[in-house]
Amino acid sequence: MANILVTGGAGYIGSHVVKLLGESDHKLTIIDDLSTGKKESVLFGKFVELNIGNTEKLEEVIKSGNFDACFHFAGSIVVPESVTDPIKYYENNTKNTFELLKLCHKYSVNKFIFSSTAAVYGDVEGGICSEDTPINPLNPYGKTKYMTEWMLEDFAHAYKSFEYVIFRYFNVAGANVDGKIGQCTPNATHLIKIASQVAAGKRDKMVIFGTDYPTPDGTCIRDYIHVDDLAQAHVDGFNYLLKGGKSQVMNAGYGQGYSVKEVIETVREVTGHDVPVDLGERRAGDAAKLISKAEKIGHTIGWKPKFNDIELICKTASNWEKNLS
Ligand SMILES: NC(=O)c1ccc[n+]([C@@H]2O[C@H](COP(=O)([O-])OP(=O)(O)OC[C@H]3O[C@@H](n4cnc5c(N)ncnc54)[C@H](O)[C@@H]3O)[C@@H](O)[C@H]2O)c1
Repeated sequence: MANILVTGGAGYIGSHVVKLLGESDHKLTIIDDLSTGKKESVLFGKFVELNIGNTEKLEEVIKSGNFDACFHFAGSIVVPESVTDPIKYYENNTKNTFELLKLCHKYSVNKFIFSSTAAVYGDVEGGICSEDTPINPLNPYGKTKYMTEWMLEDFAHAYKSFEYVIFRYFNVAGANVDGKIGQCTPNATHLIKIASQVAAGKRDKMVIFGTDYPTPDGTCIRDYIHVDDLAQAHVDGFNYLLKGGKSQVMNAGYGQGYSVKEVIETVREVTGHDVPVDLGERRAGDAAKLISKAEKIGHTIGWKPKFNDIELICKTASNWEKNLS
């Protein structure tokens, strides 16, 4: 049993990881300022409502916690907002993470699991990204995430007992298969969430941004990973570090892509509801295709996904959405 600090554990992905860690009897302390998360999503552990930017209070928690590891999910995550309000992103994602890392170093929290993003790759020729694909983030969100990757690399280089696992998430979707938690994020911009809201009658219609991409049906192609599989990757990554594994950067995706139109059609099929769409212009900064080259994560930490099924992903998301008030 390990003693783990989880930042952002009331959010979509963090809450799924907290559930899995809690079911394995780890001792958990969850810090979240509830800016987008919900306390009800935290099913295990001690909850501390705190903005990690409050360094003084954060130090009190870390100093008294005697933590073995930190899972860091807290952050600002909306790409268009990062373009119009970069200060918020450099402050929350870069500055606050730096302060957190300094405190982890000071109090010997030497295992660190970090949520990075496929957005660090930018627009990749051919659309398939391996961990060696050159980094070229197109927006402040992706840049702030990559800055943390750099900090982690430098910390691990300088401080020999410090090890990290970085996951570059592709498109995270779906809800817990037990139906206990799901995505509550207000104003979410995620395709499957929005299509599920339309199917549930919470929105009248949705927009497909761009129908003239160089893809078979003209809409963008993405690699959708079920949130429970992603949560399991975090547990596997942590176990890998506990066994003495060295720091790693890994893609977290299935290596398989679906177009926007295919996803919307799947939501229609699994819900039996119409999902009216408007065809809109392309959005700035959207790559035509982003798919993970997905081998490294399996080889390195033994991750075996169980929910690589777009129908299941859409079904769990839409069931969750239907019951969400
Ligand atoms: N959802 C995706 O598809 C996706 C893809 C790539 C990377 N990520 C990364 O995964 C992480 C989690 O994303 P998510 O989808 O669960 O988002 P989310 O908004 O649901 O979760 C983020 C959580 O962090 C909390 N938080 C934010 N800033 C905080 C602060 N300063 N102090 C304390 N708590 C704070 C929020 O209240 C929320 O509970 C983020 O770092 C995000 O960049 C997400």
